Amino acid sequence: MINNNTNISKTSIRKHIMLLLIVLLMINISGCASKKLYPEGKTVGIAMASKSIERWSRDGLFLKEKFESAGYNVELRYSNSDSYQQNNDIECLIADGVDVLIVCAVDGDALTQTLKNAQYAQIPVISYDRLIMNTDAVDYYISFDNYEVGCLLSEYTLQKFALASFDKFDYLNDVNEFDENIETQDGAYNVEIIAGDPADNNARMFFGGAYDTLRPYIESGVIKIPSGKMTFEQNATNDWSTDLAYQNMQDTLASYYGDGTRLDAIIANNDNTALGAAQAVSSDYFGNNYPLITGQDGNIANLRNIINGKQAMTVYKNVQDEAIVTVELVKALLSGKTLDESIIDSLPIECVFDNKSYDNGKKIVDSFLLLPTVITKNNIQTLVDSGNYRWDENHEYLLSLTGD
Ligand code: BGC
Repeated sequence: MINNNTNISKTSIRKHIMLLLIVLLMINISGCASKKLYPEGKTVGIAMASKSIERWSRDGLFLKEKFESAGYNVELRYSNSDSYQQNNDIECLIADGVDVLIVCAVDGDALTQTLKNAQYAQIPVISYDRLIMNTDAVDYYISFDNYEVGCLLSEYTLQKFALASFDKFDYLNDVNEFDENIETQDGAYNVEIIAGDPADNNARMFFGGAYDTLRPYIESGVIKIPSGKMTFEQNATNDWSTDLAYQNMQDTLASYYGDGTRLDAIIANNDNTALGAAQAVSSDYFGNNYPLITGQDGNIANLRNIINGKQAMTVYKNVQDEAIVTVELVKALLSGKTLDESIIDSLPIECVFDNKSYDNGKKIVDSFLLLPTVITKNNIQTLVDSGNYRWDENHEYLLSLTGD
């Protein structure tokens, strides 16, 4: 009897929860139109991960501006790093009748059902920068060579330690300079790694490139990881959070460096986490050297740190170029062309076509990959030359042209 009552009340609670969810969903998607919103011309629907992350806010702006000047309508939505909201945003874009979807996933594994709806509606889907996983509804992937990004982080570090030399860094004019700050302790260098968000497929690729490059040196004992954190999972940082990276590095410093052990480098896999690393070094590292800190993106605060000597380098991915390539590929796609190797030569920006490496679990996604470069104090002017940044009035720090 008691059991029956419990079952009845559980069932009725479940029903109420279902009803509530449906009502919430309806409230949430009430911004979606049920018929085509844009009767004239072609419309590009863009679902960006978040506006508060400098990188995505910049991508969103560049994409919008470039598509609009090419004559397209643009509906741009930012999903506040919230995967539920992003699914909802994409449903809205589908309902609004966009002709193509460009999606930078918050959680690459959480879009399968929603993208099925795009597929039913025959809307091509471009996975932007981050590969969308476990769905065959993705048509193309446009990004940078993400494994190479990770390699650059470690290769730069190895070259600074004079453990290896890479011709690819010749343009930097700094990696052969002797850095008085760098010396070995017992013939080995102590390194820690900070990886990214497990929900972002790129994060594993960056880590893979970085770790694979270090592996032979770890095996031979010239590189040591005193914390013992060797795997992606041990080093992951949810949502690429600066605060979390800061706390994790504080813990690492307290547990493994409190006795005066020297830390030579922190291979932070992007600028958000590099910022946390630099904060932790300032507050919680008591060695008499300053570790080499890497990063990725060219965020304004990190470029400041590069100028101030608190971050050694950042792997720069010119997102304006990524937007240009996206516009060109979408133009070709919407005019009925197949996107394959043959289109590469007509693109205004150098990139490679790859139809072998990007397996999302359901298909190998045809990919267009741009090439990342390294920025240090020595070549920071190239960012200004690229037209994406400007110097402040004292010619001391860089400011972004997009206002952040
Ligand atoms: C991007 C990086 C970015 C990170 C955090 C990755 O998917 O490729 O450029 O730093 O997300 O937003």
